[in-house]
Amino acid sequence: MNAVVYQGPHEVAVEEVEEPEIEHPNDVLIDITTSCICGSDLHMYEGRTAAEPGIVFGHENMGIVTEVGDAVTTLEEGDRVVAPFNVACGHCENCEDGYTGFCTNVNPGFAGGAYGYVAMGPYKGGQAEKLRIPYADFNALQLPEGDQHEDAFALLADIFPTGWHGTELANLQPGDSVAIYGAGPVGLMAAYSAKIKGAAEIYTVDRVPSRLDLAEEHCDATAINFEDGDPVEQIKDEHGGAVDKGVDAVGYQAIDPEKEADDAYDPARENPAVVLNDLIRTVRPTGELGIPGLYVPEDPGAPDEMAAQGRLGIDFGLLFEKGQKLGTGQCNVKSYNRELRDLIIEGRADPSWVVSHRVDIEEAPEMYEKFDEREEGVTKVLLEP
Ligand SMILES: NC(=O)c1ccc[n+]([C@@H]2O[C@H](COP(=O)([O-])OP(=O)(O)OC[C@H]3O[C@@H](n4cnc5c(N)ncnc54)[C@H](O)[C@@H]3O)[C@@H](O)[C@H]2O)c1
Ligand SMILES: [Zn+2]
Ligand SMILES: [Zn+2]
Repeated sequence: MNAVVYQGPHEVAVEEVEEPEIEHPNDVLIDITTSCICGSDLHMYEGRTAAEPGIVFGHENMGIVTEVGDAVTTLEEGDRVVAPFNVACGHCENCEDGYTGFCTNVNPGFAGGAYGYVAMGPYKGGQAEKLRIPYADFNALQLPEGDQHEDAFALLADIFPTGWHGTELANLQPGDSVAIYGAGPVGLMAAYSAKIKGAAEIYTVDRVPSRLDLAEEHCDATAINFEDGDPVEQIKDEHGGAVDKGVDAVGYQAIDPEKEADDAYDPARENPAVVLNDLIRTVRPTGELGIPGLYVPEDPGAPDEMAAQGRLGIDFGLLFEKGQKLGTGQCNVKSYNRELRDLIIEGRADPSWVVSHRVDIEEAPEMYEKFDEREEGVTKVLLEP
């Protein structure tokens, strides 16, 4: 079958790989109908993780069940399902507590597994024709049959729950004001979640005009372009002071507006602590910060030696002085995907506006390049094998 295979920094290719097989009675196989490209894939794509060539990418997967292991009880051939990007067992302590992003049974020596991702276990990615889903009764979320809401449902594998998770980590309450750094797919879903939850005011910070426009149009957010000046001051001017809550949907490859380079996303412009420090300043004393943006313990392309070891110059003193709380980590997709699916089915939410492209998997190399450039108008790319 064909799959998107990592070749090395800034290069993926569509190649013939072996088809998955049932490896355990709890597995199912699916024919992929949609698999999305994620900002998390870009960290590997850019050579900014320990990912080795040969990985099949793709952790945002949905499709139709084609083969069912003997021990699977709730799924049958023909079922339409979406898989959380987390691979989880369902019965370890973390899974029982709802922390399926930190399952201790699926990735020896590590808490957390995922499809097609460096250090997240042996699970092949779904930017391919077929995928194996382990612990399938637990991991596959059933969808109504047919092809309705295909784009919206595909976003249940990661970014809609992850955006929601950002607002949960920040303990966002109805009537709160919130600043969301990043208007990539995750930041836009965080802004959309804030709107659904009844935030009084939403500020979205980025530099890509088409992404900021989406935040204004679909989330009633106030757009803040960080290339126009200190985003913290812009928000405070607009809001009349600090906001209640904040979300970091950028992560360690954040651009420092004060650094210059010919290419906007040149690593020379990065400062992995800049968004965290902006958030500490943007949010009021005792406010809460949700940090779904990714941070890594090792960064081979880091701007300095400290950052290479995941050590960042965070203004912890100021955070302490303000008595702020923060929450981090991978999204536990299963904590939210069922309810978000039902909001979509009932017509109360439709996140599909974030999808800018649905293309044949053969176009993956070109789309990776465009998404990596954060080209105007390229927001969320869905692949169809
Ligand atoms: N915690 C999780 O489970 C989880 C899941 C999915 C993605 N992620 C992470 O979330 C982050 C965002 O993912 P995405 O798919 O939206 O990626 P993305 O790269 O498309 O979006 C990041 C956005 O941040 C903007 N940005 C850069 N520097 C900024 C700054 N200083 N201030 C404000 N905005 C800035 C960029 O212009 C870009 O639009 C990534 O780090 C990704 O790995 C985490
Ligand atoms: Zn993702
Ligand atoms: Zn588990």
